[in-house]
Amino acid sequence: MSETITITRPDDWHLHLRDDDMLRAVLPETTRHFGRAIIMPNLVPPVVTAENAIAYRDRILASLPEGDDFQPLMTLYLTDHTDKEDLAAAHASGLITAVKLYPAGATTNSASGVTDIKLVMPVLEKMAEIGCPLCIHGEVTGTDIDIFDREAVFIDTVLDPLRRALPELKIISEHITTKNGVDYVMSANSNLAATITTHHLIINRNHLFAGGIRPHYFCLPIAKREHHRLALRQAATSGDARFFLGTDSAPHTNPNKESACGCAGVFSATNTMSCLAHVFEDDGALNQLERFTSLNGPAYYGLAPNKARLTLVKSAIPMDYPTHIKTANSEVTVFDPGFPLHWRVV
Ligand code: NCD
Ligand code: ZN
Repeated sequence: MSETITITRPDDWHLHLRDDDMLRAVLPETTRHFGRAIIMPNLVPPVVTAENAIAYRDRILASLPEGDDFQPLMTLYLTDHTDKEDLAAAHASGLITAVKLYPAGATTNSASGVTDIKLVMPVLEKMAEIGCPLCIHGEVTGTDIDIFDREAVFIDTVLDPLRRALPELKIISEHITTKNGVDYVMSANSNLAATITTHHLIINRNHLFAGGIRPHYFCLPIAKREHHRLALRQAATSGDARFFLGTDSAPHTNPNKESACGCAGVFSATNTMSCLAHVFEDDGALNQLERFTSLNGPAYYGLAPNKARLTLVKSAIPMDYPTHIKTANSEVTVFDPGFPLHWRVV
């Protein structure tokens, strides 16, 4: 007999949808299963004003597959020059749900990011005052800092000082990849939470080089050592309200990944729920899956959980899913967890 679980329809608290052809290609992969998603603003050029966010939201809504019930939760990309009044108005009107801080140069399309946190303190103070959450890509960017240490150094040198200076600011430490990140969130007050990706629960840094270089496992923050992955698994499957899903599903075409200088980003929208059911079952925590994917995130953002439900069924025969998603001119490779997937969304 097949096993079944039914949970509240999940949300994705960190998602890259891109624009144009890519948007049209990847959007159904998310809207099929997810009710809402925090939409990353790192387009080229980035979404920096309320006007940009309205236009981008409208392009997303215009691309929605018919019948899919999905709400894009928009964000603004924080720059050294962000206008705090524009931001406050965008938040007050419900246009944006959060603001995204990329340290300049930290990741894909982050060139317009913040060069020094001191420059944006007046904006962050305004955000604390109006209750607008800040999503943070938590990595330092100096080339003198080893890539595997960038998250831990960011916590000590940027995040902790920021939280001490502005304890009222609601922060989401995004896509944490280290035990340091987990421990820091657990030690903090109620104004800090973290998202965790699907792939960081499954791969460690060895997967990047298993038998040769594996560009489709390259993302930022980069996967770390096994003990970090185990700390993430423990946090995600514990049910702790401060940890929730942000897939960071980040599509790049195959030529841009399989290149002498390949882009960072793992595309996992297609099979995320199946991967997560596998992970939670493996850890004897299927009963906590709903908290991680569907309850903890809305609670932290002050939103109601989705009303709709999602059912997953486990079959003895592994599920078939596409290894690639077609875009107008190319293909995007779907995350390969490295094991067959038996849980399928029905
Ligand atoms: C993201 C992208 O491609 O936009 N890449 C990634 O490796 N995660 C940017 C980001 O979230 O860091
Ligand atoms: Zn991202």
